[in-house]
Amino acid sequence: MIYSEILKKGSNFLKKNKIENPDLDTELILSKVTNKNREEILLNTNNKLKNKDVAKFKNYLFRRFEKEPMAYILGYKHFWKHKFLTNKSVLIPRPDTELVIEKTLKYLPIESSKKILDVGTGSGCIVVSLLKDRPKCIATAIDISKNAINVAKTNAKLHQLENKINFINIDIDKYKSYNYDLIISNPPYINSIELNRLDDDIKFHEPMLALSGGFDGFRDLRKVIIKSKKLLKINAKLILEIGHSQKNHCKKILNENGFYINEISKDLSGRDRCIVSTKLQ
Ligand SMILES: C[S@@+](CC[C@H](N)C(=O)[O-])C[C@H]1O[C@@H](n2cnc3c(N)ncnc32)[C@H](O)[C@@H]1O
Repeated sequence: MIYSEILKKGSNFLKKNKIENPDLDTELILSKVTNKNREEILLNTNNKLKNKDVAKFKNYLFRRFEKEPMAYILGYKHFWKHKFLTNKSVLIPRPDTELVIEKTLKYLPIESSKKILDVGTGSGCIVVSLLKDRPKCIATAIDISKNAINVAKTNAKLHQLENKINFINIDIDKYKSYNYDLIISNPPYINSIELNRLDDDIKFHEPMLALSGGFDGFRDLRKVIIKSKKLLKINAKLILEIGHSQKNHCKKILNENGFYINEISKDLSGRDRCIVSTKLQ
């Protein structure tokens, strides 16, 4: 079969299950199978796909038909300025989380050499992006998931940061290392009602451990705030990603734990997404 036929059939197949970008996804899958970029594919639509690659193509296409996210099928996702390896053990890096990077960089001058902790590092996208832009900083990144830590380590290596980031597979509850200048975290914060309403792509494919923030969505945010109070130096910053309806309650928990709110920022859809705070006492 030639590329143009494959693309047409693939896209029509995805449309049957209401996949959002059937043309683009089919092109990207063909690009993965042939090891050619999308432009090469589209400029050579009369090329023939080898029989052995047809089977691979069908396999990936079927996974997409079943609503598996493209980032897991392709094995990577672009975030901030870099490419991150992704698999089912980690949350797919989101554009919303780039706001956390933007805000954190604002509070970290280019020459700063701070000691940073990333709680719930997942793919490592936050800590790796920060250290690429602030090369004099050092960091520890923790996650309760061993498989996530392995992915994050691979990403750190890919970006030549394996000597700057210490990865630890541990629950934030059990972590006891002090004197951080900055803690950043995008903890699981989806409550049990919203969890059921998520798109199938997310609900059935991304790790529950990375999504569910317990019944009220605050289980892990609360843990991170309370623990950060102990782990941070006085006047150090805690920067959190939050759910769009969590601003007020999060402010309350922060204030109760001795944090001053510096700034609350909205994501690209105009929803509250990031809180910058300072530990006062
Ligand atoms: C929403 S994901 C964020 C991943 C990544 N930082 C990002 O922004 O894409 C939350 C991460 O926190 C981890 N996690 C959940 N509970 C945790 C806990 N109690 N201690 C440490 N990590 C935890 C999950 O395994 C998951 O990788």
